[in-house]
Amino acid sequence: MNKKFSVIGAIVAGAFLAGAAQSALADETSIAAGELLYKREGCTTCHGSNLQGSAAFPNLLTSPKTADKALFSAIVLEGKSPMPSYKANAKVSAGLDSLYDYINSKKPK
Ligand code: HEC
Repeated sequence: MNKKFSVIGAIVAGAFLAGAAQSALADETSIAAGELLYKREGCTTCHGSNLQGSAAFPNLLTSPKTADKALFSAIVLEGKSPMPSYKANAKVSAGLDSLYDYINSKKPK
């Protein structure tokens, strides 16, 4: 490779790495925001602080419904008796992506 191409290569690689670091940071920020919402907006009451629910409430770590963002958002917004609707909760409705990121980050890989 001549010098000109290796300089371009280094710039491209650098931009790629900076982008990766930035999105990892965005993920961490979103996960942390989701954790706060989960704990402050009442999800723990039924699904537990470990997200594993109980006999009456679904385990969010194993539920396939938590992996599908559209389904997840619909359930949280609409509720599903006895789970309340969170449509009127501005923090939860604005933070659905973060809640989704938090719950999915806790699943066993
Ligand atoms: C009053 C108890 C209660 C609270 C509070 C509650 N949930 Fe639920 N949640 C339930 C019940 C019960 C279901 C199952 C509903 C059904 O399918 O019949 C459920 C289902 C879900 C599901 C779908 C999983 C599945 O397998 O059915 C998700 C995702 C979910 N809840 C997330 C949340 C989040 C996020 C919060 C907080 C913003 C929350 N829930 C607050 C009781 C609750």
